[in-house]
Amino acid sequence: MGDKPEAWQAAPGDMPPDEFRTHGHRLVEWIADYMQHGERYPVLSRANPGQIRASLPSGPPHSPESLDRVLGDLDEVILPGITHWNQPGFLAYFAITGSAPGVLGEMLASALNVNAMLWRASPAATELEEVVLDWLRQLVGLPDSFDGVIYDTASIGSLIAIAAAREAVGLDIRRRGMAGRGDLPRLRLYCSEHAHSSIEKDAITLGFGTEGVRKVVVDGDQRMDATALRQDVEEDIRSGWRPFCVVATVGTTSATSIDPLPEIADVCRDHRIWLHVDAVYGGLAAILPEMRWVLDGAERADSIIFNPHKWLFTPLDCNAFYSRRLDVVRDAFSLVPPAYLQTPEGDEVKDFMNYGPQLGRRFRGLKLWFVLRTYGAEGLRARLRDHIRLARMFAEWVAGDPDWEVMAPVPFSTVCFRARPGEVPASQLDALNLAIEQRVNASGKIFISHTVLGETVALRVAIGHIRTGERHLRSAWDELTRALSSSRPVPTRTSSPAGAAQHTRD
Ligand SMILES: Cc1ncc(COP(=O)(O)O)c(C=O)c1O
Repeated sequence: MGDKPEAWQAAPGDMPPDEFRTHGHRLVEWIADYMQHGERYPVLSRANPGQIRASLPSGPPHSPESLDRVLGDLDEVILPGITHWNQPGFLAYFAITGSAPGVLGEMLASALNVNAMLWRASPAATELEEVVLDWLRQLVGLPDSFDGVIYDTASIGSLIAIAAAREAVGLDIRRRGMAGRGDLPRLRLYCSEHAHSSIEKDAITLGFGTEGVRKVVVDGDQRMDATALRQDVEEDIRSGWRPFCVVATVGTTSATSIDPLPEIADVCRDHRIWLHVDAVYGGLAAILPEMRWVLDGAERADSIIFNPHKWLFTPLDCNAFYSRRLDVVRDAFSLVPPAYLQTPEGDEVKDFMNYGPQLGRRFRGLKLWFVLRTYGAEGLRARLRDHIRLARMFAEWVAGDPDWEVMAPVPFSTVCFRARPGEVPASQLDALNLAIEQRVNASGKIFISHTVLGETVALRVAIGHIRTGERHLRSAWDELTRALSSSRPVPTRTSSPAGAAQHTRD
């Protein structure tokens, strides 16, 4: 294909089907090649701030351009600015996967381009969403009293849950709002200091303010202390607060700790508080019979969320929200619809626009359907089990090396660890580990991230990409040990073995 735009481009109408076919086949080839050989790119983009913007024209093209030129720029301008989340060397944050079936499902969703706002706007979009959510519910072992909705992200899923919790308090907030109401107690939400930052953002968005969030202390394994939660709630009640929501996490972002759901559910029962469980990463492990325990007590939650886009091989974005009280979610958001959204079906069907602030909704159920069907429960279990095996293997390498230590239990597929060579004083370990992280990421072979546990920097290796295997973990370990060797302080001539031993481990 030449550089010249085709005749159709400046006239009304879309690209002709034969040309779409040509470009489409070429793009699928590109994607297949990327999936097969994407490891040739550095995982963490080496772009400098502003570099990509500076390589692009500052205004839109006046005349049509050929798709050839666009694809050429994709390779030359855009790819250098991509951090390769969809490659197996990506071990940072929570690693994710746009699996091949998921990518195909996503492609189809954009071709159909349905807006699943109302049942009649595309009955299959609503009903498939209901079906795949019910399949996922069965896979993680939640009772059928839980009914679901797909949102984009966990941040929004939790926002919806907290709005429903506010509605459940019964203070007529939906109608009268909260501002300037002398009759309203201040409402408070509880989560551990390890809850994801989205919870605090949601509380700000919903008008509770950061003071409306009380962070409950954690135990030595970074799990919410349920006794402290009870004390916090009771103390707040004595001082005039109205506790209305507890957010517990199964698989916290930093340490992947698991809050004790049964004890937390007891507190919520005793004080009539909405229990929301953020199980977006760790909760998906419950698909494995041997890991089902991570959701023990979740059946008592009012709402719970999972992210198939985190650890279930579904392309971003896909948040599966469940509630035993979906009627309350609906009460929080539904309005008598304006004339243009009224439909004759009534309560016979679910109009998903009634379950959140947004009207337009993507057909996200389709890609999840592709993933669940093409891997099947067996295939999904095999992959999650392998990720957990790899994480434990990596943790054993760390634990077996005297220069390194594991920093938190490893229930899922994420390992928190740090270098701790005997000769480096405790006060310098954070800087040493951050330097190691930088060196490892500069290698381009893998990308890891870090967090802070207590007051200590911990490196994190998170396994979540479908093609990550032992080879990538071995490469990560080689890079880490090499980075430690080159970041180690050079011993001075005067230092004796006895001198080195003074820097004892804390
Ligand atoms: C435990 C937990 N909850 C919520 C989120 C937010 O996820 P999302 O990007 O889907 O909003 C994250 C992100 O990593 C997370 O780890």
